Formats: sequence, structure tokens, C-alpha cells
Amino acid sequence: MIHSSNSMYKDQHKTVFFETFGCQMNKLDAELSLGLLLEEGYQIVDKADEADVILFNTCSVRQHAEDKVYSHLGALKTLKKKHPEVIVGVLGCMAQKDGKAIFKRMPHVDLVCGTRMFARLPELILNIRNRGSHVLAVDEDQIIHVKRAVSHRPNFYQAFVTVIRGCDNFCSYCIVPHVRGREISRTISDIKEEVEALVANGCKEVTLLGQNINSYGKGLPGGVTLGDLLSELNDIDGLGRIRFVTSHPADMSRDLIRTISRLGKVCEYLHMPAQSGSDQILKRMRRGYTAGYYRDLISYAREVIPHMMVASDFIVGFPGETDEDFQETVRLMEEIRFQNCFIFKYSPRTGTKAAELEDDVADEVKRARNMRLLELQKGISLAENKKLIGRVVQVLVEGASKSDSNKLSGRTRQNHIVVFNGSRESTGKLIDVLIHEVTDLTLYGTPT
Ligand code: SAH
Ligand code: SF4
Ligand code: F3S
Repeated sequence: MIHSSNSMYKDQHKTVFFETFGCQMNKLDAELSLGLLLEEGYQIVDKADEADVILFNTCSVRQHAEDKVYSHLGALKTLKKKHPEVIVGVLGCMAQKDGKAIFKRMPHVDLVCGTRMFARLPELILNIRNRGSHVLAVDEDQIIHVKRAVSHRPNFYQAFVTVIRGCDNFCSYCIVPHVRGREISRTISDIKEEVEALVANGCKEVTLLGQNINSYGKGLPGGVTLGDLLSELNDIDGLGRIRFVTSHPADMSRDLIRTISRLGKVCEYLHMPAQSGSDQILKRMRRGYTAGYYRDLISYAREVIPHMMVASDFIVGFPGETDEDFQETVRLMEEIRFQNCFIFKYSPRTGTKAAELEDDVADEVKRARNMRLLELQKGISLAENKKLIGRVVQVLVEGASKSDSNKLSGRTRQNHIVVFNGSRESTGKLIDVLIHEVTDLTLYGTPT
């Protein structure tokens, strides 16, 4: 750890409040940014009005995500009037997307820092203090290189590791490629070094992150693939499990599925969003596959990896989605029987291709379709989980259960949450648990 007195950017105002919105990748960026600030001697506080620096790491994927941040920012106006020395910063995807327009809408904001600039956060904060004016940092061409302070992760036994940044897919509804920039893969040696450091520090499970993880390796010398990366990480002693998200059906190769089946540490869990079951909607979403292709891919995966569990995302109410299109989605869900699904109402994003289409599905219809899919998935998850009653599953014990602190909780290889009675000493270990009761979201059992 760099001691604050050695720091280049010494700063005596040292408490920070940090709130993150958005996906796992954003949460990890927040963790890395906070790591940098902690190394500068900052202390985290959990109330905004006790902090010298207030930061929001933001998401732009749907309008609702942005509205939430703007309302949080608006609420800071009075505090900022009373304490003008407090620094208010907006980081991440919405910062990248809205740029200096944020200063216009929220003049009390001091810092707007985009998705590829957070490695310079301590320096940017200091610039604001020195200059007394606001700072805009939304350069897209920056390569982020953050030396990770492994000891700052929120969960001791589990860690997320970004392996590819950005997305080149440009699905017609999606803002991510516009705010996260083009795909850049990290080298295998760089990633391996980080995972080894995490494992040496006690971590047992890593989840590799990428908006489009199947593209991993494109642009790196030697034609490396995600399969090569997984094989290398599989050899790390002391690492128990490897997961990776998010898979894109069009970029998911059968070769990769076979590789996963051979690697003992790679878990039997695929998060591979289908988005819709209707071919004409998929086409307008620019997803590059048909529902038939998706079905075949899942059948192949389940043939090669018998216990493979699949999770998906769906968007309801995409422009022009008819009842018939929606029924196709229902059919796909009924057929595949996902372990779990994230379901979203379509939200037009300025600058995307789909925003040029009329948002013609009424909000009540979007809401009704959303509810229908949620109900359907709930029933499927419950029925699938019931099949596990009487079975023994392998659990990585994460610690006390959030719902009942007398119990322990952990996850199966297929990513089910398991709650059970057990000794605290098993925390961080892989143990076997006999399942005797389930809900749609949780399995309950006893260690064997
Ligand atoms: N990279 C991942 C996740 C992208 S964002 C992937 O390719 O799947 C997470 C999810 O948000 C997407 O899978 C999609 O279902 C949803 N989403 C993205 N843009 C959206 C929009 N404009 N309206 C509603 N949901 C959206
Ligand atoms: Fe968005 Fe599509 Fe890229 Fe996923 S693959 S981040 S949905 S553009
Ligand atoms: Fe949101 Fe950015 Fe993630 S837009 S979903 S936080 S990549």
C-alpha cells in the first residue's frame, strides 16, 4: 500500500462517500476507484453529509437509471450551498454520455469523469481543489490501467475481474458501446497476475467481466480466445471456481463450450441474454441470430455440459413488438427453462439506432408483458429448484446469510443461493450441502 505521505497528490480533505448505480462492471470500477482513493489516505463514510468528496458512479442503460442519479444530485444542492468546499463528482456511463451538459443541469457538480478516466481520480479531485473550478474528463482514448489493491474487495472469497472493456456490437437499443467505447482486451499475463494476487490474498472464486466477453482476445497478438484465458486460469492453484459474464449468443462458439466442459474450475452457468424470442424483433435489435439459433446453441451446451444452467435478459416493448412477437418470447422462455431472467421494459436511448423508431408500445402494455414474464420465470425457477430437493450440491461458503445472521450462505456452481446451518469455520471453503427446501430464489439445506 502506498502511504499517503508518499503520495504525489497529497490532499488533506480525506473522507469520501461513494454510491454506485448500474451493472457489475460499474461496481468493479467503483471498487477500483475507491481502492485508489484509499491508497491516497481517504476514508470511506456511509453518509453523504459527512463526506469531503461525494461521488456517484452512474449508469445510462435505461432512463430510470439516469433519473435516479439526477434526483440524488439535485438533493445535494442545499448541502453544497452550505459547504461549497465539498466536492461532488459524477463518474461512469452517464458522465461519459452527458459530459458537460451535467454542469449545465446541475451547476453544483464539480467533476464529470467518464468510463475510461477513473484511474486519474485522485489527481482530478486535487485539480478541482487547486483550481477552484470544475473538471471535465471524458476522453475515450485513454487506456485504463489500474494496479489493483487486492485487499480492498468487498467480498473476501469472491472477486470480479474485468478482462475486456467496451463493446463493438451496437445492438440497436443499447447505449453501452456509446459510453464504454470500443473493445479492448487485457493480456492473459496481466489478468493471470491479478487473479494470482487475489488468490494469494484468500480469494477462491473469480468472475471474469466483459459486456461482450466472448469477444475476449480480439486485437491481441497471437489470436488468443476466451478459451485460452480460461485454460490458463484453470491451472492456478488455490483458485476454486471461475465464472464469466456476459455471453453474446452470436459470439459464443461451440469450441468454447467444449473447452468449458474440460475445465474443472469453470462453473456450469451461462449468462447469455436472448433479449427476445421473435426473429423480426431480434433482427431489428441487430442481435445477429435467430431464436432457432439460440435454441440450438443451448441444446448443444446442455448436451456437452449436462448440468449447464442458463440465465437470460429480455427486453419487452421494443418498437413494433406485437402480441404475436411477445408470445414468441413466452414460448422461448417456456422451452428453455432458464434458471433466472432479468426482464426490462424498453427505454429509448438518444443516439442509438432504435431511438429513430417510434416507441410505439404503450407503457401499460410494457408493464403487463414485464409482469407476465416475471411470473412465468418465477414458476420455472421454483419448479427447477424443487428438482434439487434431496440432492447434494457443492457450495462455496461466503459468510453469514443476509436474511438470517445465525445461518450461513453461499452459492452452488450453477449460481443458486444456498442458506444453511453450519459452522463459521467453513467460510471460504467448498462444502457439500443436502437440499431439503426451496423457494424460487433460494435453496435451504444441511451440510453433509
Ligand atoms: N452486455 C450485456 C448487458 C448489457 S446491458 C449483454 O450484451 O447482454 C444489460 C441489459 O440491459 C441488456 O441485456 C438488455 O436486456 C438491457 N437493456 C439494454 N439497453 C436497454 C434499453 N434501451 N431498454 C431496456 N433494456 C435495455
Ligand atoms: Fe449492449 Fe449488445 Fe453490447 Fe450487450 S452486446 S453491451 S446489449 S450492444
Ligand atoms: Fe449501465 Fe454502463 Fe453498465 S450504462 S449497465 S453501468 S456499462
